[in-house]
Amino acid sequence: MKNRLVTVFGGSGFVGRNIVRRLAAAGARVRVAVRDTEKAYFLKTCGDLGQVSLVPASITSDNEVARAVEDADTVVNCVGVLYERGSRTFDAIHVQGAERIAKAAAQAGVKQLVHLSALGASADATSSYARSKAAGEAAILAAFPDAVMLRPSVIFGTEDGFFNMFADLARIFRVLPYYSRVVPHAEGGGGTKFQPVYVGNVADAAVKVLHEDGHTGKTYELVGPTVYDMREILEMVCQYTDRSTWICGLPFWLARIQAIFLQYLPTPLLTPDQVKLLQVDNVADGSKPGLSDLGISAVTAETIVPTYLRRFRPHQQQKKLRLNAH
Ligand SMILES: NC(=O)c1ccc[n+]([C@@H]2O[C@H](COP(=O)([O-])OP(=O)(O)OC[C@H]3O[C@@H](n4cnc5c(N)ncnc54)[C@H](OP(=O)(O)O)[C@@H]3O)[C@@H](O)[C@H]2O)c1
Repeated sequence: MKNRLVTVFGGSGFVGRNIVRRLAAAGARVRVAVRDTEKAYFLKTCGDLGQVSLVPASITSDNEVARAVEDADTVVNCVGVLYERGSRTFDAIHVQGAERIAKAAAQAGVKQLVHLSALGASADATSSYARSKAAGEAAILAAFPDAVMLRPSVIFGTEDGFFNMFADLARIFRVLPYYSRVVPHAEGGGGTKFQPVYVGNVADAAVKVLHEDGHTGKTYELVGPTVYDMREILEMVCQYTDRSTWICGLPFWLARIQAIFLQYLPTPLLTPDQVKLLQVDNVADGSKPGLSDLGISAVTAETIVPTYLRRFRPHQQQKKLRLNAH
């Protein structure tokens, strides 16, 4: 890994920044390719002087992608979007963008390519997000057959957009809804199942498949040790934020109606495509290798999530704790 040049597309994002930190710690030279280099300045301090460089590159531009992978030994693609907006479509980012990176990497003689896909990526999925992730994988493998696919379930960590979002909502609203096919009190009425995985484990997996032999062309499903349904996740959020918010199961037909309106928020809380995604459990079926096959032990959500959800507790919480201690 020492002195190898690794280009990380999307290196300023939640997953990307953790990969950049680990690569820098392992002695690699890291080139972070993002559209907004100013937003990525904080990454410069991850390494020694000059070890982490920033290049402006959109994965929608042939020239910028080609420049970003020039002379690179390895490439990691962490670019992805959760919802479509204007020209930022799933097809443009997950399929065409990913293919552009793979073709440029092959042409530049890059030795290894690691791609962040998503658990549930499938050509038969009802959601466009999951279908585009599958199409992106196929396009990459056509251009760069040795590429390694990482398919994480929902990822948790200090800056995640999942637990933090629900904790923020629990701060504002008295009710947190989840969606379920089955009536809430019946068996299986806890809504969609997830197997959340720690961002540190995902970053370790990316670095491991880059610098070890024997991973070429493989797909890894990266999941945590525990399966939770949506109600259990919301209960966890309320417990760690010390909120007595009411958790309420709603039918999917209501989610579809809510999504029609919520999709137009500046950062959509729910889109019609996400409703389709939520109707399928996001759990590994064990048919693909995972973290344990990479020698990585999966960290539980209970170990990490409380450490960063504490900040959502009511204002007087720390004072109350101090008073109770006396
Ligand atoms: N977070 C999860 O729970 C989760 C779960 C499963 C799979 N994944 C996948 O993991 C990958 C990383 O997710 P994340 O949560 O780290 O996403 P993120 O925080 O939204 O980061 C996305 C990164 O992509 C960059 N980017 C966006 N559009 C770009 C473009 N056109 N050209 C170049 N860079 C662009 C962004 O920087 P600029 O805006 O500055 O360009 C940012 O650095 C994605 O593929 C995602 O689908 C994530």
